[in-house]
Amino acid sequence: MKVTMNRSDAHFEEALKLIPWGTQTNAKRPYAAFNETMPKYIVRGKGCRIWDLEGKEYIDFRLALGPITLGYCYDEVDNAVRAQLEKGVLFSMASPIELELAKLIHEVVPNAEMVRFMKTGEDANLSNIRLARAHTKRDMILTSGYHGYPDWFAVEESPNNGVPEILKDYVKVIPWGKLEVAEKLIRQYNERIACVISIPYDMNEDVSGSYIKQLRKLTKEYGILLVLDEVWTGFRLALGGAQEYFGVDPDLASYAKAMANGYPISTYVGKRKYMSELNHFRMTTTYAGETLSMAAAIATISIMKREPVHKHLWAMGERLMQGFNQIAKDLGVEGYAAGLPPSSFLKFNTPDTVYNQRLEYLWFRELFREGVFVILRWFISYSHKQNDIDITLEKAKRALQRALEAEQKERQSIKPFYW
Ligand SMILES: Cc1ncc(COP(=O)(O)O)c(C=O)c1O
Repeated sequence: MKVTMNRSDAHFEEALKLIPWGTQTNAKRPYAAFNETMPKYIVRGKGCRIWDLEGKEYIDFRLALGPITLGYCYDEVDNAVRAQLEKGVLFSMASPIELELAKLIHEVVPNAEMVRFMKTGEDANLSNIRLARAHTKRDMILTSGYHGYPDWFAVEESPNNGVPEILKDYVKVIPWGKLEVAEKLIRQYNERIACVISIPYDMNEDVSGSYIKQLRKLTKEYGILLVLDEVWTGFRLALGGAQEYFGVDPDLASYAKAMANGYPISTYVGKRKYMSELNHFRMTTTYAGETLSMAAAIATISIMKREPVHKHLWAMGERLMQGFNQIAKDLGVEGYAAGLPPSSFLKFNTPDTVYNQRLEYLWFRELFREGVFVILRWFISYSHKQNDIDITLEKAKRALQRALEAEQKERQSIKPFYW
């Protein structure tokens, strides 16, 4: 039942000659381990479905790595973009649409006393750490989680990635969730630290929010700013993001992925006393006021305000998680659904961790074959309706049954797919 990938393979081979990696985004590189079943190219999407270069259809749970909150080609959002396109994309002075969007964000994001825009998640994070440094007149930052590719966030790979080694003196990394490491670093360097930047939730099993709440307490105690990297959680866990969901009050926060249903825009927001630093130095880029993405963000957030979008993401996620538990039970697999419903997963839980990895790999491989696009975490959009979840669960059960059989046969030859 091998899927023919000839067109895709040829295209990829040609792309590799011209484009290092063959693509732009790490997570969109074809995974050699899935070569047999994973599509290399997606040509279109509608609702919760996508189609590959071979014309094969998938129910998509990856959602372009997070940005598609409402669904692909969501009419109201795309119509707002079309209407703005008639007026123009970018102008020689600010556009009134900037204030319109800022007002919306101020209204729905708890700590957004002031708001500025950028294009990507890492831009927003970079802007926030610059702000924190400007305000505190301190140089060092602590990071916790993935915050993007820029130098400040990539010191651990230095010097092989071109990042100057000297940055290691200015950036210390707290493995996410390790509060004792945070405490130690803060005590050791406290008067040098401008901010701690952390993701609120690492899409894993600890869904308590206790780490981020403890970080908030600790940073306050030492007069250090807390920057919440909500690039993934913002507009997804709740309209006001993880700060609303967990009830934490960061000094500054960054939002990007889910705010405009796939259009490229990010925002950095926070307390007036920190954000107003921006009046005193230059933080600027030509495209930050690009209006098509702003129109998309206004439409997306307006829909989220008007309709039960987040209730739906949670309800469909919970349905999926209940289904995972039932499948594990039916097939006698040691495993359970874990994580938060908007991004859950099935945790294989035998004492043999290598077996768990093999089974997970084979399950994803077979899910691609079934026409379900997912790796690791299952992201839900507003376009995943009950029927889509139920069809997915049928496919997931078949895929897991085949994975169990394949594990017996292929045990010796399976390589871990982790990258
Ligand atoms: C939590 C978090 N922060 C920052 C980023 C970087 O965002 P971008 O790729 O838009 O620059 C990502 C991207 O995956 C992310 O998940």
